[in-house]
Amino acid sequence: MTSKRRYVVVGTGHRVQMYLDAMAGDHRDDAELVGLVEPNPGRLSVHLNRLAEAGLEVSSVVTGHPDDLERVIKETEADRAIITSPDYTHAELIVRSLDAGVDVVVEKPLTINAEGTRQIADAVQRTGRQVVVTHNYRYSPRNSGLKELIKNGAIGTPLSVTFEWVLDTAHGADYFRRWHRDKANSGGLLIHKASHHFDLVNWWLADTPTQVYARGGVRFYGSENAAARGMAPHPERGTHDGTHSPWELDLRTDPRLKALYLDSESYDGYQRDQDVFGPGVTTEDNLAVIVDYAQDATLSYALNAHAPWEGYRVAVNGDEGRAELEVVERAAVLTDAEGRVVIDPSAVPESSSRTGGERLTLQRHWEPAQDVKIEAGTGAHGGGDALLLADIFRGHADDWLERSANWADGVRAIAIGIAGNESLSTGLPIKIADLELGVDLSR
Ligand SMILES: NC(=O)c1ccc[n+]([C@@H]2O[C@H](COP(=O)([O-])OP(=O)(O)OC[C@H]3O[C@@H](n4cnc5c(N)ncnc54)[C@H](O)[C@@H]3O)[C@@H](O)[C@H]2O)c1
Repeated sequence: MTSKRRYVVVGTGHRVQMYLDAMAGDHRDDAELVGLVEPNPGRLSVHLNRLAEAGLEVSSVVTGHPDDLERVIKETEADRAIITSPDYTHAELIVRSLDAGVDVVVEKPLTINAEGTRQIADAVQRTGRQVVVTHNYRYSPRNSGLKELIKNGAIGTPLSVTFEWVLDTAHGADYFRRWHRDKANSGGLLIHKASHHFDLVNWWLADTPTQVYARGGVRFYGSENAAARGMAPHPERGTHDGTHSPWELDLRTDPRLKALYLDSESYDGYQRDQDVFGPGVTTEDNLAVIVDYAQDATLSYALNAHAPWEGYRVAVNGDEGRAELEVVERAAVLTDAEGRVVIDPSAVPESSSRTGGERLTLQRHWEPAQDVKIEAGTGAHGGGDALLLADIFRGHADDWLERSANWADGVRAIAIGIAGNESLSTGLPIKIADLELGVDLSR
């Protein structure tokens, strides 16, 4: 199954590091990096320097601006493109890559709206090539553990799911500091973030969403909410001298952020540290969604982006019992003596009644609840990223849990967010079939 494929990587900001590190490290024998496409020369050289330090021969890597994507693909005789650029660029870059003759691996979300989905679907049909969306959350042992329970029939047939995800004032706030803050760039959190969560539910239930009703809004971040709460005006950016509020990100405090963004700003004016209470925020920070599934189960989902802790709670009700997954990714966001946020994913203050960690519980009808063991995972996203990379670069072996997401899965994951956005603006429930996404989503 293993063959050394030739890769062009498109978009060299934050997320790309996982793929480049893999190609320079564990997957050096599976993948050859032949091209890098990026509009910002500063960020491009940060990554080229890192690769050289990791011992990769970079002199033969062809580089280019996104306008030159086709040339880079042709010159390098690439097999695949990995796309790690901002969400609003995905549709065009996927279509151009497919037409230039390569398969595509794209970071979630596939794209941000129905029009982009149709364009990609047309190109997939026209070229007969593959598009894979990387849904790494499936590979987290805790999420796989819940899938295993359901697939084993431990709760019988699933009839409904409740799912709440809370993003804290460090990570959640970060979506309001840069391009994500404008819904036009990311499709809002229903697409950008919740596509991970909707993909999990689609996969847990092995079912297809059919209708979506969503409510929510920009209720916390942005200048209007800050003014309504009587907040004093903040500096426009977090990178400044003097005292800081915990809402700010000073790019000089992190050498990686400084090199990638602050030192590269002169090329394109991309500001990574904007005021979360400044003007221009159109991405909703509180969301509630109800989703109907083809086999009659319903999902009720909620997302909050300014919580004091980070994690999620899922309950799946079956006709023979109930499974519950509770995950605390960060029990509290704490500040140092200067008022800056201390980013410590394992922070569990001694005085806290919220302990960290994860808990998977099964309770069958007429039986006591029991803890279900979760396999320990290491590394990013609960060990999910390493397993995902093995799938991408080595090809997936037979997997009873069917974790590898295919093309239709990528579309199903954003279909809920696309319909949800339509529902937010019309106030009506939206049938996914009416979106005419150009892809058969039935199973
Ligand atoms: N699966 C996950 O857990 C996860 C985590 C973070 C980000 N992501 C996804 O990865 C992608 C990138 O996010 P990021 O945080 O690295 O963003 P980023 O802004 O840090 O990096 C994006 C890079 O793409 C470049 N770029 C902009 N326009 C481009 C174009 N037209 N063609 C090529 N490159 C272009 C930018 O200059 C920048 O260097 C997004 O789609 C995001 O949703 C996924």
